Amino acid sequence: MINYTVLGKTGAEVSRVCLGAMAMGTLMDRDESFRTLDFFAEQNGNFIDTANCYSWWVGKGEFVGDESEAMLGEWMHARKNRARLFLATKCGARLRDPRAIRDADGNPRWAEVPSHYEGASRQVILGAVKDSLRRLRTDYIDLYYIHLDDRKTPLEETLGTLHELVTSGVIRHIGYSNVRTWRLERIRSICERNGWAQPVAIQQEYSFLRPAAGANLGVAVHADDEFFDYLAENPSMTLLAYSPLLKGIYASREKRLAYYNWPLYDTPDSAARLERLETVGNRLGLDGNTLVLAWMLHRKPAIIPVLGGSKFSHFRENLAALDVRLEQNVIDYLDGRSPSL
Ligand SMILES: NC(=O)c1ccc[n+]([C@@H]2O[C@H](COP(=O)([O-])OP(=O)(O)OC[C@H]3O[C@@H](n4cnc5c(N)ncnc54)[C@H](OP(=O)(O)O)[C@@H]3O)[C@@H](O)[C@H]2O)c1
Repeated sequence: MINYTVLGKTGAEVSRVCLGAMAMGTLMDRDESFRTLDFFAEQNGNFIDTANCYSWWVGKGEFVGDESEAMLGEWMHARKNRARLFLATKCGARLRDPRAIRDADGNPRWAEVPSHYEGASRQVILGAVKDSLRRLRTDYIDLYYIHLDDRKTPLEETLGTLHELVTSGVIRHIGYSNVRTWRLERIRSICERNGWAQPVAIQQEYSFLRPAAGANLGVAVHADDEFFDYLAENPSMTLLAYSPLLKGIYASREKRLAYYNWPLYDTPDSAARLERLETVGNRLGLDGNTLVLAWMLHRKPAIIPVLGGSKFSHFRENLAALDVRLEQNVIDYLDGRSPSL
């Protein structure tokens, strides 16, 4: 059974892991999505993550990004369980026209994608939240993230609009994703100065391996030491770790080499960490993915991993990490603070 933690200082009790619904409605059909969602709910999970752009990039142009929210809406409607869930969605990374970004073979022209994001202007947010509510078949969103930091829109415009939505009860809490620490501090201070709702959840990429110094992750932001230092001083914010398994690279060497961002992670630091992971995995009889999630679940203050997968079995297997207890000496060894187990 999944236990609970409190999100920031909101008092809201959320499951210790969040279910990432990115593949639902595209890579995962209705049956596979419902099976996964039912299992998560049966295990006591209540925290579900989606966005208003998941997953436009799958396939050859048949999807626009409505699919994950629509699938969740269908499931909540069928199960009549909206009130029991803590539902998070995002806006800002939807494409103005997802079909215009594909080449003649139907593949996304990735280099052009950033210039097609809708961004986080007042007009975009107000339209996006309405569309998300309709697809999700609900009249409120528990946690509403700005998906990507939009440097072109004044922060006052974005944050003031979010505050209005909180005041009117359409969204309960605000979150930010893919945001640099210095920008986050600016966001926090603008909210404080104006008496506006402050972000309570920050969603960044975070895993056991660390990208090379200076690695260019594009619009993505990986939680680094500076960010953790910031979080320690700002306990009202909780880290949601997305892509905690870096697309499943801990399962096999082949998967690692095939990972599109592997060149950014292929460092001596990663090699040493993978070796320690293997040693501990062999000792405890755990596969790399499970061990990484278990390691993450032991971090203090609590990090909430956003579990991803493209089939039911991924989610079922990954939930097993909640039952793994790691001794402090094992964590110290994994993190390189102790030379031996
Ligand atoms: N805020 C953001 O910008 C952002 C970005 C990305 C994701 N997210 C959120 O985070 C969630 C998780 O992200 P993610 O899908 O990138 O997660 P992830 O942890 O990086 O990877 C998920 C992938 O890892 C593999 N995998 C997972 N469990 C496995 C298992 N037990 N055995 C073998 N392989 C396994 C699968 O790969 P295969 O499918 O290849 O088998 C799966 O699709 C998403 O659903 C979304 O809600 C947010």
